[in-house]
Amino acid sequence: MAKGRGFAGGFEMRRRVILLGPPGSGKGTIAARLKTEFGFEHFSTGHLLRQEVAKDSAVGRQVGLFLERGELVPDELVLALVESTLAKSRPEQGYLSDGFPRTLVQASAFDAWSGTRGLAIEQVIYCESSEELVLSRITGRRSCVACGHVYHALFVPPKTVGRCDECGGGLAQRADDSEAVVRRRFQVYLRETEPLVAYYKDQENLTVVDASQSLEKIMARIEVMLRQ
Ligand code: AP5
Repeated sequence: MAKGRGFAGGFEMRRRVILLGPPGSGKGTIAARLKTEFGFEHFSTGHLLRQEVAKDSAVGRQVGLFLERGELVPDELVLALVESTLAKSRPEQGYLSDGFPRTLVQASAFDAWSGTRGLAIEQVIYCESSEELVLSRITGRRSCVACGHVYHALFVPPKTVGRCDECGGGLAQRADDSEAVVRRRFQVYLRETEPLVAYYKDQENLTVVDASQSLEKIMARIEVMLRQ
């Protein structure tokens, strides 16, 4: 078995995975499915940062304005948060990162961190998506205020309007999901994050997924890719 690979559903599978793509391209939805179906350890820097804001911690007070405006949080704050999160988990059993790295500085710092531990990234999944598609996805997105499960008013509706299927919690729209902020997040993505596509292509571990497809098609393709 290749170093660091784990078993999922009785088959060998890549377990050190990065989900890369514009806001609203479906990274969080894919991560939730990979967690449920194959037991991946999932972390999302967006979720971690929102938790800090909700707790009103020292970090939360520093990052709140960046999130509200749709701008990236400074690299040093994000890197410290990721390092402390991974220190509390078991990265040697794999990791699934949604929304990190997001800049070339973050990518190279994570390569150094993971390389020195023998935990280099095995697969980067790039969710390719247009601005108009992400806009329609995000403006209809609703998340459970209790467990964070994500829905879409039209594409992925809950069984009962306004209620989470998983825990019965209320559904709400994220503060940074207005059209104006989403358009800004997309521009920030093009400037700061899209260069990572070429970066990981050079490392020969990038696979492109057409994010406009149905979730079922996307998951089928990802499962094949992770088992190769
Ligand atoms: P973050 O929370 O990471 O937001 P994002 O990357 O902008 O991505 P989203 O969570 O908006 O979308 P997603 O791709 O997960 O899509 P989803 O699955 O929900 O970051 C927020 C902020 O935190 C950033 O703006 C920045 O300020 C800061 N930040 C975070 N990480 C950072 C970092 N590393 N460095 C610096 N700053 C950082 O899907 C969207 C909708 O579409 C949902 O309603 C879903 O139900 C629906 N949907 C999904 N897939 C499908 C499908 N195939 N068909 C139909 N509908 C679908």
